Parts: sequence; structure tokens; C-alpha cells
Amino acid sequence: MDELNRIKELKNKRNAIILAHNYQRSEVQDAADFVGDSFGLSKIATSSDAEVIVFCGVDFMAESAAVLNPEKTVLMPELSAQCPMAAMINPESLKLEKEKYPGAAVVCYVNTPAAIKAESDICCTSSNAIKVVESLEEKEIIFVPDRNLALYVASRTKKKIIPWNGYCPTHHLILPGDILLEKEEHPLAEVLVHPECKPEVTALADKVLSTEGMLRYAAASDTKEFIIGTEIGLLYRLGKENPSKTFIPATRYAICPNMKMNSLASIIRALEKNEHIIKIPETVRIKAKIALDKMLGVGRGD
Ligand code: 13P
Ligand code: SF4
Repeated sequence: MDELNRIKELKNKRNAIILAHNYQRSEVQDAADFVGDSFGLSKIATSSDAEVIVFCGVDFMAESAAVLNPEKTVLMPELSAQCPMAAMINPESLKLEKEKYPGAAVVCYVNTPAAIKAESDICCTSSNAIKVVESLEEKEIIFVPDRNLALYVASRTKKKIIPWNGYCPTHHLILPGDILLEKEEHPLAEVLVHPECKPEVTALADKVLSTEGMLRYAAASDTKEFIIGTEIGLLYRLGKENPSKTFIPATRYAICPNMKMNSLASIIRALEKNEHIIKIPETVRIKAKIALDKMLGVGRGD
């Protein structure tokens, strides 16, 4: 039996659903029941009636699914698929920052450990960061951990944004020169970039969007060529869903090694051995769920 049929068999046996982020390997995306961005994945995890969720993404995504669905078994096929940006903040240093700005609200990007969400007022994703900030009464916002997303939000709101100093090593590989070079070669192309890119890169974009936002925008636009400034895994869905359009990566170097760890073999192993189960301590989970529920209540932004 081939790997895809084995996965189907195990999914039926375990009443499982496979969720995959837009940056996963193409074969993992093809094996998934749902492929999406961080917002879509959090939402689908709450609406599915499967007993087991196999999460093909990185640590904070599986953690969010476990926070939102304590009654389900959440499995991470590869435990070492950890997001380096999410590790750029810890609860102790966030508590110190909160003491420095007692009147400020804390908005945490979904790319954070559950313990950081538990210390935050509300969570956001790249899709709804501006909408989330605007939904708050406070005028001062501590925004963690992505500095670039914080600066992008600051440029679109009157609120005072206090950024943390985290960043995504993969999006930092996209350079302004890459965009300028591709624009010269493809003068009719629209430039879509992710808000995790550096400000000097977002400044060159026609649109700054989440990964799902890029998929929606490209499908609806009359433009035929797009320069894409995000992790290159997104190009698989862009090409598959828009066969008459051309998608040019801003750079082929923008690969997230953590997102690429999951494979068909590791999905099979996860379902066969029921590993690796992601469980969040109940005291942390309850508080983190408040921040995630509020974020889901605000809805998509792009
Ligand atoms: P979105 O797919 O939510 O835009 O997020 C990108 C990302 O880097 C997830 O790690
Ligand atoms: Fe983390 Fe960046 Fe990889 Fe997303 S692309 S999981 S932010 S390292």
C-alpha cells in the first residue's frame, strides 16, 4: 500500500483530520484535509468533529489547536518543528515589559508559546493584526514578538505600538534588492509580501498580506504575474489554484526549514504510534484560550 492510502486508512481508523500550513511540503499539503494560514487553521480546528488532529506546521500552531480543543488529541508529527521567532520571547521578560507600561494592552502574534498567549490580552495573526489592535480601547499596545509585523501595524494605526525585538529568520532572507531585481524583469507583476518581511521590503510591495490573503488576492486580481515575498511553500498552492497565472518567488532562499520537517512518513508514524501528543497545562491553557477566542471573535482581516 502506498503512503497516501495508508494515511487514509489510519485517518478513518482514528477519526483523524490532517491540518497543514501553506508552507508545508507539497506532498504534505496534498495529504491534508485542510491547508491554510494560521487564522484559518485555528478556526478549522475548532469546527471539526474529528477526535484526532494531526497538525503539520510548527510548534505554536499545534499548541494553539491543543489550547482551543482540550477534548481532542492533537499530534505533532515532528517535535523538532519549532518556530524560532516564537522562541524569541519568554513569560518573565514579557512580565517585565508589562511593568514598564502598566496602561498598555498586550497583543501577541499567534507565533508565540501558549505561556505568552496566557500573559496577553489578545492574540492576532498576520491576517488580522491591524483589526485586532483597532478593536482595543487602550491607546498603547505592547506588540510581541515580531518587530516587523509590529512596525507594519504601527504604520497603519494611530495607536502607540511598543514592538518586541523578535523576527522571522526566513522572511529576513528576502531583501529589497531581490524585489527590485524581479520588478525589473517582470514590470507588469504585482508584488505581494508578508508582513514578517523587513520594513524596507514591505515598502516596495503593492500589497502586504497573510499567506491566505495572498491566495485570495491573486485569485481575484486581473493581474497575471505576481512576485511573492514569503516562504516559497506558498507557491505550490498559488500555482495549483491559479494555473493561468505566474508566480515568481522574490527569492528561492526563503525556505523555513522547520516547516519542511513534516513528511508523509512522519504523518503515518504519528497516527500509528499516537505521537507526539501536545498537551498544555490547564492553568496556562485556560488563560491562553481567552486570548485566542478574542482573536477568533475579531475575525479575518484580509
Ligand atoms: P500566515 O500563514 O498566518 O500568514 O503565517 C505565516 C507564518 O510565518 C506562520 O509561521
Ligand atoms: Fe517561524 Fe518564520 Fe518559519 Fe513562520 S516562516 S514558522 S515565522 S520561522
